[in-house]
Amino acid sequence: MKNGENVAINVTNTIGEPSTLHWHGLHLPARADGGPHQIIENGDTWTPAFTVKQRASMFWYHSHMVPVTGRQVYQGLAGLIYVDDDEVSKLELPSNYGIDDIPLVLQDRAFNDDGAFYYNTSMMSGMMGMRGNTLLVNGTVRPFFIARTNKIRLRILNGSNARTYTIGFDDGRTFHQIGTDGGLLEQPYETCQITLAPAERMQIIVDVTDGNPARLRTFASPNQGMMGGMIANNSAFEIVDILPDSGRTVSPALPDRLIQLPKPDPSNAIRTRRFIMEMRMGGMMMGGGAFSINGKTMDINRIDETVRINTTEIWQIDNASMMAHPFHIHDVQFRILDRNGRPPAPYETGLKDTVFIQPQERVRLLLEFSDYLDPDRPYMYHCHILEHEDAGMMGQFTVNA
Ligand code: C2O
Ligand code: CU
Ligand code: CU
Repeated sequence: MKNGENVAINVTNTIGEPSTLHWHGLHLPARADGGPHQIIENGDTWTPAFTVKQRASMFWYHSHMVPVTGRQVYQGLAGLIYVDDDEVSKLELPSNYGIDDIPLVLQDRAFNDDGAFYYNTSMMSGMMGMRGNTLLVNGTVRPFFIARTNKIRLRILNGSNARTYTIGFDDGRTFHQIGTDGGLLEQPYETCQITLAPAERMQIIVDVTDGNPARLRTFASPNQGMMGGMIANNSAFEIVDILPDSGRTVSPALPDRLIQLPKPDPSNAIRTRRFIMEMRMGGMMMGGGAFSINGKTMDINRIDETVRINTTEIWQIDNASMMAHPFHIHDVQFRILDRNGRPPAPYETGLKDTVFIQPQERVRLLLEFSDYLDPDRPYMYHCHILEHEDAGMMGQFTVNA
């Protein structure tokens, strides 16, 4: 898609059960959002139409069918969306799709003996989210890529139901992060490891001028809370081997400046809205009420928050549980103001739609509600561990006059 263009999409459901298709990260009218209210019955076609109002980045789409989102996404109902804009197209960045601009979709899966995906939400995987022991990268296992240029842009999506990855190169080489969920950073940020929680995206530039093969892999994740130790200890996966071709072309130098973003100014906010994410063990064993936001589990007939159009708010999210959760908000790209009172690290200073929140952490976000008013149809906010979302760690807000 291109910023400014009008799109209409035909989504035909032939999977044999009701589903929905949500455009994750896109700013669009609630009726076109593809959340739990835009159900497509088996055999039906849904045709949302909207104008693309988005900075260049990589977005994605996935099922959002309450309460089977986790299973439907796991079985395959997800894909990528690229958005381009004129400002970013002028930058000298690798942008030949499949040549020096490569998507990497990371999804862990478990398999039955017959090779079918194994999915269950009982006990442990209900609580921790469904995790597999095999990493699929664009649907395949341990792929390789032959680099025909010295610089390669990787657009990475953590499309997993529940697993968080810390990503870097085997040889410890650095790379440049250039983008977050919803757009580019103001300037490239050099680092050697990045962490991606479910639904987060990142764009990086890798340099293979030295001609050495570069293996991108995951490393055992840092603190994911007291329950981190309960996660199967197999979180080091190979992602992709990048094999430099001997006839590589020289890529232009990375620009010093990428785009300009307004400085997040909390004084624009008309109010602070507070959210507390909780998990209660007792409730889990009883089979209900375990996952909540502000003490409530998702009720599709209840609007939890009403915001006013053309206003800016601070959303303050406290993680009162023993596990880290990626908090996602529909309709907006937000900015992170602070984590436990400290300003965000360079890697998350860009536009975000999902923020990873550690146990006992308080994160404040700055968001603006513009363009689309609909007092009747809500947008969602939720934990993006899909089994938590399905178990009710989700709420609904409408944008009002
Ligand atoms: Cu990626 Cu409410 O979704
Ligand atoms: Cu979304
Ligand atoms: Cu969660």
